[in-house]
Amino acid sequence: MFSFLLTFLLLKSTLINSQSLTTRVLDSVLQEHAFAPFLRHRVVTGVVYDANVGPELTGIKVSALRLRSGALSRKGYVGFKEFDIPVGVVVTPYVGRVVLVYQNMGNWSSVYYGLKGYVFLSPVVGLLAYNATFLSPEKSPEKLLELEVRAVEEPMVVKFGGLKVLRNGHMKNKKDAYFNCTLS
Ligand SMILES: *[C@@H]1O[C@H](CO)[C@@H](O)[C@H](O)[C@H]1NC(C)=O
Ligand SMILES: *[C@@H]1O[C@H](CO)[C@@H](O)[C@H](O)[C@H]1NC(C)=O
Ligand SMILES: *[C@@H]1O[C@H](CO)[C@@H](O)[C@H](O)[C@H]1NC(C)=O
Repeated sequence: MFSFLLTFLLLKSTLINSQSLTTRVLDSVLQEHAFAPFLRHRVVTGVVYDANVGPELTGIKVSALRLRSGALSRKGYVGFKEFDIPVGVVVTPYVGRVVLVYQNMGNWSSVYYGLKGYVFLSPVVGLLAYNATFLSPEKSPEKLLELEVRAVEEPMVVKFGGLKVLRNGHMKNKKDAYFNCTLS
């Protein structure tokens, strides 16, 4: 697989077989929404921009964050929504600036990532990376390919404590979950 990155609660990689087309198309639609603020005005590096997904996808949240890849690697980024990005993250192929797109599938999680017999305790969230080098109001966006992101030193941490439980009543002992993942 050339491009998709992290998606939790369930790993997208295990799910992508059956629904690859729809989820790939959805990623691309969400990418467009996430990039919209970048095309309307100049955005500030390091600031999280929440995007509007439009009425047909109400319930899904997307946000974008532009970083210099050198800074991303040196400093990481704590608190991009539920993600704590550690130092030592490498984006390939190399780009000078990267846009990280956060997806929270909300009440659509089971629509796009549903598995028979399983109940989602939290929404599926994902993080994808794109080339941001010339993404600006002056340059029209091309359909950008996703970049590969690797946490080579410390694991990526996802704090599920901040995610809303989708169905009430099933869990008596709710606990904050921390999911560490090293991708290679
Ligand atoms: C990133 O975008 C710039 C500007 O469009 C392009 O010149 C460069 O080749 C791209 N890099 C990659 C790895 O796609
Ligand atoms: C998710 O919730 C919103 C309202 O908050 C609703 O408009 C939308 O249709 C719901 N989507 C699904 C797939 O249930
Ligand atoms: C997850 O990562 C955090 C921060 O690096 C660490 O404190 C914690 O012990 C790790 N948890 C597990 C289960 O590996």
